[in-house]
Amino acid sequence: MTSSSRVSARLGAIAPSATLAVDAKAKALKAAGRPVIGFGAGEPDFPTPQHIVDAAVEAARDPKNHRYTPAAGLPELKQAIADKTRRDSGYEIDPASVLVTNGGKQAVFQAFAAILDPGDEVILPAPYWTTYPEAITLAGATPVEVFAGADQGYLVTVDQLEAARTENTKALLFCSPSNPTGAVYSQEQTKAIGEWVLEHGIWVITDEIYEHLLYDGAQFTPILREVPALADTTIVLNGVAKTFAMTGWRVGWMQGPADVIKAATNFQSHLTSNVANVSQRAAIAALTGPMDEVEAMRVAFDRRRKTMVEMLSAIDGFQVPVPQGAFYAYPSVEGVLGREIRGKVANTSAELAAIILDEAEVAVVPGEAFGPSGYVRLSYALADADLAEGVGRIQELLAQ
Ligand SMILES: Cc1ncc(COP(=O)(O)O)c(C=O)c1O
Repeated sequence: MTSSSRVSARLGAIAPSATLAVDAKAKALKAAGRPVIGFGAGEPDFPTPQHIVDAAVEAARDPKNHRYTPAAGLPELKQAIADKTRRDSGYEIDPASVLVTNGGKQAVFQAFAAILDPGDEVILPAPYWTTYPEAITLAGATPVEVFAGADQGYLVTVDQLEAARTENTKALLFCSPSNPTGAVYSQEQTKAIGEWVLEHGIWVITDEIYEHLLYDGAQFTPILREVPALADTTIVLNGVAKTFAMTGWRVGWMQGPADVIKAATNFQSHLTSNVANVSQRAAIAALTGPMDEVEAMRVAFDRRRKTMVEMLSAIDGFQVPVPQGAFYAYPSVEGVLGREIRGKVANTSAELAAIILDEAEVAVVPGEAFGPSGYVRLSYALADADLAEGVGRIQELLAQ
């Protein structure tokens, strides 16, 4: 053996997904009979709309769907993605520029794998979704964090991006609406960032998976609609999981320039081949069907968002920027750190999350999973009563 350790350095360096870990711990405690309320999971609590399930059941009965599909996905689904892009983003794409992936997560990995080499840097606005730095690192490149705190609404500025740019900067990761913060870049901000990227010949990987979950009149701005000249250096990531309550179906996609999509398709053809045929049929029904249930879910999330922001804001020491998208609140908890809580003291948000779980039986994800300490993420994609009970317990625990 030439290698000194059994697990490779590349995989050995990967941290477990903190969000899934919190969720798993909460579920395990629940299974052991403890009344845990989990704010960790990033998934809608609603069932997938019936017409999508019906399409999948029908597809499962047809033997033609018991076979492989082309690695890049069913032609009908790629056409549906092109049509949906025209409808939701307002620009044309070629269906051949789409690669259907096993969830948005696989699209994230393949997008970075397709364009990064060792030595490359990717500017990563922080707080960031916990998977991005792992995917960048696995591709041999380096994430360069640019932090925007609660005081700036978790939105990075062009000046901050420019300060982080070096001759090795290959790409910018752009995610709006954002997981974990719920922040949404305005049209002007998106355009300014797009123009800066274009000026410097940097790639953009834009994650648009929360495009339909917006509140308070906030608008989703596709960066390619604002700066069409970026089309040759942009990879768009998306999926059906969040919009259609389809996290378990595992359908996402990446869309981009022909050479990148070809390389990523070759990669995927060896890695996972195609996405489950029946799931692709379900995704066609989702993307071509009515959007009224999506709107009903959005209205429910909006109601829960307001309850959560109001209740969290009442906690002394929490600062709660109002999230305008996705389904997460991301309060700063700096004001609580160092304070005694039932005989314990939390000096970091990770320690605070542990105390909240032990003492209040409520699971939240600490900021350390998404960048600097000092924050916690709570998903509001759970039942209204559970949400009120869970945040109520945190209020009670932290009442002075
Ligand atoms: C920002 C963001 N992108 C992509 C994904 C991937 O979702 P999926 O793999 O379920 O499609 C997630 C899921 O949490 C996410 O939050």
